[in-house]
Amino acid sequence: MTTRLKAAHSRTVNVSILLAIVAIFASIFPLDAFSQNRANSSPATAKSDDAAGKYTGPGSCASTTCHGSIVPRSDNRVLQNEYSIWIVKDKHSKAYAALTGPIGERMAKILGIGAAETAPRCLACHALDVPQSERGRTFELSEGVSCESCHGPAAGWLGPHTERDWTHQKSLALGMYDTRDLTKRSEKCLSCHLGSDEKSVDHEMIAAGHPDLFFELDTFSDVMPRHWKEPGEPGEAAGTDPWYNVRELTSGQAVQLRQSLLRLASRSHGKIWPEYSELQCYACHHSLTPPEQSWRQARGYPGRRPGNPPWNPSRYAVFRDVVRQLDGENAEKLDSELSRLGQLMSQLNPDRDAVATSATNSAHLADELLAKMNSASYDPMITLHLLQAISADADDISGQGEHSAAQAAMAIQSLFLAYERNEKLQNSEQLRVAIKGLFQELQNPSAYDPARFASQMKQVNALLR
Ligand code: HEC
Ligand code: HEC
Ligand code: HEC
Ligand code: HEC
Repeated sequence: MTTRLKAAHSRTVNVSILLAIVAIFASIFPLDAFSQNRANSSPATAKSDDAAGKYTGPGSCASTTCHGSIVPRSDNRVLQNEYSIWIVKDKHSKAYAALTGPIGERMAKILGIGAAETAPRCLACHALDVPQSERGRTFELSEGVSCESCHGPAAGWLGPHTERDWTHQKSLALGMYDTRDLTKRSEKCLSCHLGSDEKSVDHEMIAAGHPDLFFELDTFSDVMPRHWKEPGEPGEAAGTDPWYNVRELTSGQAVQLRQSLLRLASRSHGKIWPEYSELQCYACHHSLTPPEQSWRQARGYPGRRPGNPPWNPSRYAVFRDVVRQLDGENAEKLDSELSRLGQLMSQLNPDRDAVATSATNSAHLADELLAKMNSASYDPMITLHLLQAISADADDISGQGEHSAAQAAMAIQSLFLAYERNEKLQNSEQLRVAIKGLFQELQNPSAYDPARFASQMKQVNALLR
């Protein structure tokens, strides 16, 4: 029995993303050699098809003079090689193909939903599954998560957006989605990377083979990789904010917490309850050891009956330290509401109404804090303090499970990179190695050991003093 559950984890967490994160940490992607694998079309001009709100497909953006340049253009603040990056390096262009692969097909079979590539339940996140009436002539479902999945239907602004003196505001009025706004951007990513009422990855789907979903805006944007210049980069005229990545982290954390709480509130009144994917995976999925070797028994079961699976608080683990640094007053309110929620969720059959109320209250608090994260000003001192605070929280965070540890590793790396971009740290090389060590502790999630992770975090912390 134990080996059965143990076998589950090695396949569960998408280790590849962790490897990708470490890889970008080592080298910030050289944007040179792109394949010639580009569609050769020019912007759609068909009159009947250019109504605002219609989706045209990525081919409309792919011309070399538009967004399909092989190399980034230096004479413009827009890089113009967005299509080339997307088709070659960005997994979103392969999202539809994932449904037709062996794992996708098997999942669909287990779930009894017909072919995955025709199942609305899968297409919701793996393609741009919009109603037929919104599909333009050049639209193809098989293009996966494409430009318009994030930027909105292009038909309205495709023609005019290249005009001289055209503004972002005008595009927004014609149906473009405002990905420049950090809150809206996070919400867009999380609609698929966390899920929503309409599209969801639950334990049933995970047990059928879907990777578990986790997210951190700044890190995942790097891994994508980014096809845009950031406000901190040289040559970016749209504004300069050298600490922009810190804002991306703090605001992304707030949105992530809020959205996950709203989803918990609605799941609490769903058909399946308790929903296992809201709990700590490795509380159930781990191998057993002799009592004298069990860190779980050595730790005890604070705040819950021994053997109850605990709530997964990973979407709060890092944000908690961020809020303490940036807004001490509200930190306590949020903390007491979430510890109440954690206790409710760590009972065997959590009280649905109490969970809904507590999750909704917490979501409101997270929303208030989001405004503060967006408007706060960030600088080297704050960034360093955030790094110190998160790494000093080693025992608490590591005790909250592997998912919380992964959030801490991503946040620490992200803040470190933001700091390094602007200031020099004396022991930068040692820090780099110590941070890499955090990711190494996560590579086999079923063997995750909180004591080892905590000690690695403490090493990072010691180097920051
Ligand atoms: C809520 C959005 C959502 C839904 C619904 C969804 N997926 Fe996914 N899927 C994702 C995301 C996001 C990833 C990437 C996860 C990561 O790497 O962090 C993914 C990854 C995958 C992968 C792994 C791809 C790879 O390259 O390793 C497969 C296979 C997959 N999904 C199949 C399916 C199937 C089949 C369905 C329908 C039964 C489905 N998905 C429904 C969001 C979703
Ligand atoms: C997974 C989401 C996603 C996909 C898919 C995507 N983008 Fe983006 N794109 C973004 C985000 C986020 C930004 C940064 C915010 C911004 O500038 O709007 C961005 C920025 C851009 C910019 C710079 C805009 C500016 O004013 O600086 C261009 C141009 C662009 N994308 C074009 C494309 C094209 C063309 C495609 C398809 C080949 C595409 N994007 C696919 C999310 C996406
Ligand atoms: C419409 C749904 C959707 C949206 C919106 C979306 N993603 Fe994704 N994303 C996916 C799916 C599905 C995959 C898995 C693709 C695959 O592996 O075949 C994925 C994969 C990724 C990966 C690769 C993960 C890995 O395992 O290597 C990164 C990084 C990523 N997304 C970042 C982002 C960011 C950042 C945003 C917002 C700017 C975003 N995504 C918006 C659906 C989406
Ligand atoms: C309350 C206990 C519990 C929690 C929490 C839980 N699971 Fe499961 N999981 C199970 C059980 C029971 C099965 C069915 C095992 C079987 O049939 O052998 C299962 C099956 C699975 C399987 C398929 C088994 C296999 O060998 O491939 C995967 C993968 C999985 N879970 C991943 C997860 C992930 C990821 C999470 C957290 C997001 C999670 N589980 C949370 C109890 C749990």
